Amino acid sequence: MRPKIYITRKLPDAVVTRLTEVCEVRMWEKEEEPVPRDVLEKEILDVDGLFCLLTETIDEHLLTLGTNLKIISNMAVGYNNIDIAAATEQKIMVTNTPGVLTETTADLTFALLMATARRMVEASDYLRAGSLKTWSPMQLTGQDIYGATLGIIGLGRIGEALAKRARGFDMNLYYHNRSRKPEVEKQLGIQYVEKEKLLRESDFVCVLTPYTKETENYIGAAELALMKPTAVLINTARGGIVNEEALYQALKGGQIWGAGLDVFEKEPVQTDHPLLSLPNVVALPHIGSASKNTRLKMALLAAENLIQGLQGNTPKNIVN
Ligand code: GLV
Repeated sequence: MRPKIYITRKLPDAVVTRLTEVCEVRMWEKEEEPVPRDVLEKEILDVDGLFCLLTETIDEHLLTLGTNLKIISNMAVGYNNIDIAAATEQKIMVTNTPGVLTETTADLTFALLMATARRMVEASDYLRAGSLKTWSPMQLTGQDIYGATLGIIGLGRIGEALAKRARGFDMNLYYHNRSRKPEVEKQLGIQYVEKEKLLRESDFVCVLTPYTKETENYIGAAELALMKPTAVLINTARGGIVNEEALYQALKGGQIWGAGLDVFEKEPVQTDHPLLSLPNVVALPHIGSASKNTRLKMALLAAENLIQGLQGNTPKNIVN
């Protein structure tokens, strides 16, 4: 019998076609609206596999309802939306999509760094609002990127790819990570430093660590207080790693100079979020991996992981 799966969002046809070759597919057909929780709770009852996005909270209760569930394939590299301990306890495999999004996410991270440092969104809004009267010497001046110090918190695949880009800008590179990477240090000319030194000396601090219990609020008031008043914080990892209230205060009070945020604690971020009221914040709606090619690759990889698991194999990207 063909395994039954549920897909929590409308996917590109090529991905659905591939999954249909192997599985009985049911899918939430909307592209811009997440599957309601009550629908997901019903759909999960009889399926063998679940294809989900980071917008779905896969908690213990939901896992308990899925009595046939063998595998959850998350179309994301991060999987903090899934209760891994509960899945493991119930012998449900969980997979993610690392690798295929590395370069695209590093591109976006560096683009966000540049946009924030050079006030690109603010400048564009200024122009469109008709506020521009003349060119003037100190108007819309920002921070230099070339030759500045970049501190990367979390030197995984994306962190390394970011460091490569930064080398092209002759940046001085620091990183802080759970473990040291001597080979990468040599190869990229990046220096391991303690968290405090990284925060004190970096002109740009990029957060790229996974979101876990250990990294929750990893950057809070005490950390922001160590940073330079000219420093820029970039977060393209997960919102909860940076304490948003502390960040708001630090940006408003001039303790740090600016922030580029692709992620927020609660997504979708609401337009009345205090951070969105600040001109020195560049805010994006979690588009780190959002190139056409990469999103398709992620969806196809998630589909292959799901198929592998349902065919009794160990999927390539199993995380538990
Ligand atoms: C996106 O944030 C991902 O984890 O893939």
